[in-house]
Amino acid sequence: MKTPPAEPSSLALGEAREAALEYAAELVLRAWREFDQARDEEPVPSAALLAALTESLPEDAADVRVQLDLAAAALDTSIAQSRPRFLAYVGSSGLEIGALADLLAHSYDPNLAIDAGSATRIESQTIEWLAEFVGYPADCGFFTSGGTISNITALAAARERALPGSRMNGVRVPLAVYCSEEVHYSVVRGAELLGIGRNAVRAVPLDGHRRMDPQALDHLIAADIATGVIPMAVVATSGTTLTGAIDPLDALADVCEKYDVWLHVDGAYGLPAAGAPTSAPLFAGLARAHSVSVDAHKWLFVPKACSAIMVRDRQLLAAAFAHNEAYIPHVDNELNAVDVTLEYSRPLRALKLWLAFRVHGARAFRAALERNLAQAQLLYELASQHPRFEVQPLPPQLSITPIRHVVPDCSDVDAHNDALCRALIADGRVYISPAIIDGSSWLRPCFTNFRTTDHDVRVALETADEVGLTLCSSQHNATH
Ligand SMILES: Cc1ncc(COP(=O)(O)O)c(C=O)c1O
Repeated sequence: MKTPPAEPSSLALGEAREAALEYAAELVLRAWREFDQARDEEPVPSAALLAALTESLPEDAADVRVQLDLAAAALDTSIAQSRPRFLAYVGSSGLEIGALADLLAHSYDPNLAIDAGSATRIESQTIEWLAEFVGYPADCGFFTSGGTISNITALAAARERALPGSRMNGVRVPLAVYCSEEVHYSVVRGAELLGIGRNAVRAVPLDGHRRMDPQALDHLIAADIATGVIPMAVVATSGTTLTGAIDPLDALADVCEKYDVWLHVDGAYGLPAAGAPTSAPLFAGLARAHSVSVDAHKWLFVPKACSAIMVRDRQLLAAAFAHNEAYIPHVDNELNAVDVTLEYSRPLRALKLWLAFRVHGARAFRAALERNLAQAQLLYELASQHPRFEVQPLPPQLSITPIRHVVPDCSDVDAHNDALCRALIADGRVYISPAIIDGSSWLRPCFTNFRTTDHDVRVALETADEVGLTLCSSQHNATH
């Protein structure tokens, strides 16, 4: 029988398809070339763009190139972590090969809820490579939408181990989770969502390096056990979001083994640095953790979203997540991906890291990490020697270097630094986010971008000083 001519779908791009792809490639190339250097100011959205952003739902088709232009114009006037002087929060940097991988992956659009064929092999091979890169003996692992989901996945498995049957019966006895005072909120959120309760999260005091104190942890666990509380998990942070402190994993693993408590390492931000020779020794003991999280969309430079959760024993995930539903049957009693992961529909997030490792090689990643580590030290040195900047008492452990602008004319240093952060963002030459450290306001540059150069580091400090001095003099003039 002859195949009848295809009836085009109302959603087919039709003849415009090839031109659309070519034009999209042009726009992407233009953006990449732009990201090679920092720009002197942030452009403002045009009147046409602002008008388009308030239009109601379009009912009719429109020219694809015009619409792609509009999208690019909107992105060009959005916060862009890919730019070399974006030093706020924990940025990612839109690694080019990662962006191409996303285009490919989203075009094929496999769903890794079940065995998706080669896509599933890519996910497990990428986990093996990632585990090798950071030095963790993973039995298995999966990619998730972020450090938050990776941490919650680990906590769900830890809950089931500490209190078998809790996923069926709920939590009827008190459990506790232990972590650094400066743990990321995702851990608290996990305790809230898993029915453990925010009040059961024990903030363990810090040592002089802002790391969780193992002795204090030991005391807290012993005190809880004495009152009938079950210690569920210790969450060590390998790179706190605030200052990049790395909890002492070996000493914490000793405490966890003593009480048979799950050790999870939240390395969402910092764990890639375990693969860099300079910082690798700071992660000693990592192999003893039951689970670890690491975000490739932070310090492995690929675009969001690409986090990984890795465990030493796959059965611990199955105990928390395996289930039987008529719409997702098991073949030969094999576990489906949904039996060991929190999410159902999962895109092929691994492809961007897989392709990036293949194209650049692990050595290039180590070099990029070393460069960021050195930039954080460079800023620390420059700011320490600068007459108008304060730094933390100890140099950065990873790639966050908090600095504080101090000018004799400006008596309220906290208010000045808060205002300085806002002024810097408005100025547009450098993007730095604020942070409260020990009750004081700081600027918190974080280096996780492969495009940032040492020159950018110098410019960031000079710009902060220049904008800070202008702020002070305008305040001074206003009050006199
Ligand atoms: C240490 C740490 N854990 C978890 C997270 C949450 O990661 P995500 O934003 O990918 O959910 C972050 C985010 O910055 C983080 O720094």
